[in-house]
Amino acid sequence: MKDQLAIAGGTPVRAQGYPEWPVHDEADEALLLEALRSGRWGGYPEPGPYNARFCEAFAAFQGSKHGILMVNGTVTMEVALKALGIGWGDEVIVPGLTFAATAYAPMAAGALPVVVDIEPKSWGIDAEAVEEAITPRTKAIIPVHAGQIVCDMDALTAIAAKHNLHIIEDCAHSPGKQWRGRGVGSFGAFGSFSHQSSKILTAGEGGSLLTDNEELAQKAHSIIDCGRPKDPAGEVYTFGCNYRLGELHAALLCGQLEKFNAQMLERAENARYFMERLKEIDGVRALHLDERVTRLSFYRFIVAITPEAFGGVPNSIVCNALDAEGIGCWVGYEPMSKYPLFQPKLSRLPVAVQYADRLDPRKWSLPVAERAGLVEQIYLDEGMFRAGRAGIDHLIEAFAKLQRNPDALRKAANK
Ligand SMILES: Cc1ncc(COP(=O)(O)O)c(C=O)c1O
Repeated sequence: MKDQLAIAGGTPVRAQGYPEWPVHDEADEALLLEALRSGRWGGYPEPGPYNARFCEAFAAFQGSKHGILMVNGTVTMEVALKALGIGWGDEVIVPGLTFAATAYAPMAAGALPVVVDIEPKSWGIDAEAVEEAITPRTKAIIPVHAGQIVCDMDALTAIAAKHNLHIIEDCAHSPGKQWRGRGVGSFGAFGSFSHQSSKILTAGEGGSLLTDNEELAQKAHSIIDCGRPKDPAGEVYTFGCNYRLGELHAALLCGQLEKFNAQMLERAENARYFMERLKEIDGVRALHLDERVTRLSFYRFIVAITPEAFGGVPNSIVCNALDAEGIGCWVGYEPMSKYPLFQPKLSRLPVAVQYADRLDPRKWSLPVAERAGLVEQIYLDEGMFRAGRAGIDHLIEAFAKLQRNPDALRKAANK
């Protein structure tokens, strides 16, 4: 039967799959070979030549003055907090729907993450909830620009200015995005980017900090290089360790950055077509894209489903069914209150500091994040947005096919 769901043995909507990630070519091979033959594989002395070349180009692309490259997009945030002098006894406000790293990083720096809800339209951190959570101990906010969205940076920068707080933007999903014509990662003290293997600017592993502040850049360089001085006089030591990225990874990032702009534009064009076509499908909405987002880029494109439009089943079942139709997707991160990867109780922090009850998930109120993460959220693979309009048409058809088969979805849910 043509309309039978692939999850129930029918023919998939998109049997041929979508373009794979990562993408590499002869230019990447040449760069890697050059780095290999140079004999300088490590990250010391920091920064190495490929490291410096990538940082300069990436910071310029994103509209920041300085880049600091390191081992991943988790320690980036820990280093940013340490460079700002944030640690024991301080609080850092983070959103309730994000990867564990956003909340882990403050703990690694010795600070308490204070988890607040997201706002319902875009799922960016809720500016009102941020303001309510501020105490005399609050030192920073880490907004996460998840998927295609940018958090309300006008509201957040105003709150930060009013309460004398730092902003560190978690831009792990966000190379290329602009808010009011300005690159994300440049609105606060630091922007943090991930170059982990699934990310859209990748070397397999790696992370970048961007900043406009020269002194903060020097501190961050020092922290990731065992505390060695990076100021022009070579006098200022910090307390640091080795978070350097090797030159082979840095060379690969140079090659990947060359290709990034074209990939971003292709994804954005197809995403706009997708958003148009999505109007035909009740019960699936793209996260609200604020009109102040002036350049669209994304790691995954996030949609919210209404379970009632899919026989009452949650996102996990819809994802399995889409996957079977050849549509690569994922339910995304669980809300921080239910997230197995985020384990504050395994840290000694809750017994070591005052006010640690703020780390008790039972005391959090995250209704929007919990519904989003457990019921509604679907992360659509980026490759779907590099397969032309036909690739999007298949995606739309897969959603429509699922909606025509609510009984089969319910059956899959009861298995
Ligand atoms: C929102 C967010 N922040 C931070 C990270 C951490 O990046 P990394 O894996 O490079 O440590 C990720 C990675 O998935 C992420 O999605």
